[in-house]
Amino acid sequence: MGDITSRQFDLMRSYIEEECGIALGKEKAYLITNRLSGLLTEYNIPDYEGLYYTLKNKKDPHLKERVIDSITTNETLWFRDKTPFRTLEEVLLPKYIEEVRAGGRNRIRIWSAGCSTGQEPYSIAMLINRYLAREGIRDVSPGNFEILATDISRRVLKIAEAGKYDDLSIARGLDLEYRSRYFTREGRDWVLDKGIRDRVEFKQFNLQNNFVALGKFDVIFCRYVTIYFSPDLKREIFRKIATALNRPWGVLFLGSSEVFTGYGDYFTRMLHNGGVYYKVKE
Ligand SMILES: C[S@@+](CC[C@H](N)C(=O)[O-])C[C@H]1O[C@@H](n2cnc3c(N)ncnc32)[C@H](O)[C@@H]1O
Repeated sequence: MGDITSRQFDLMRSYIEEECGIALGKEKAYLITNRLSGLLTEYNIPDYEGLYYTLKNKKDPHLKERVIDSITTNETLWFRDKTPFRTLEEVLLPKYIEEVRAGGRNRIRIWSAGCSTGQEPYSIAMLINRYLAREGIRDVSPGNFEILATDISRRVLKIAEAGKYDDLSIARGLDLEYRSRYFTREGRDWVLDKGIRDRVEFKQFNLQNNFVALGKFDVIFCRYVTIYFSPDLKREIFRKIATALNRPWGVLFLGSSEVFTGYGDYFTRMLHNGGVYYKVKE
């Protein structure tokens, strides 16, 4: 196993699964050595067993955060997969706008669960803003949509909150129209308009925790997050998501390449314009 013994791997694997839900098979031992070896040097810890006992016994919150920041995979892009955003625009927004107009309620709540550096929730916020402007809708405003974005990693949340991106991350999925409408060049960065940034509330949240305090949602994006979890934890999270969705029109979006099985008790699989989404059962 290279730079890590079986015992060291087992200790770190159990710690990581307990803290983040991420289940690492033996073939992923390289993730521990690739991503955590720098911490051994920085904290002057001789090996991964030492790291495990330091984490367990010293309970240094900073070191724990550093392990979480390093071990999570934060790959993301703007308007990832396209189809969820098409469904949001073509199916869900018209429906929710009608509900707001009908006077039943004035808050539509959207949750980006596992938001990484912000591309997903900001894509949602830009899409809503552009949709309302393009359709000339004035009686419903972006303020009627509340977007909560959560992640376990404080490092990515900091980047997300800043709303500043370099050329490389801007180029990944963002078309020119969105870029010129919502971003300003500042030195080497592209800075997202404050009006869009203010639409998203970022919060650290571990999906292993109870969801009740977060309230109910109309739409939950939980994409490319549970692919790293055990089947049991996945099941538990999708059960909690189903409970957190409003009825009858609560919707879950997954990543387009994610395999989702055993959801029949909670969700109905729906198709729209080349994309799949999951509508909560009543
Ligand atoms: C691959 S990114 C996906 C980002 C975005 N949803 C997308 O599809 O582009 C997965 C994110 O899930 C977060 N994550 C991993 N385990 C988590 C947990 N237990 N609770 C909350 N977020 C977690 C990671 O920190 C990471 O930023």
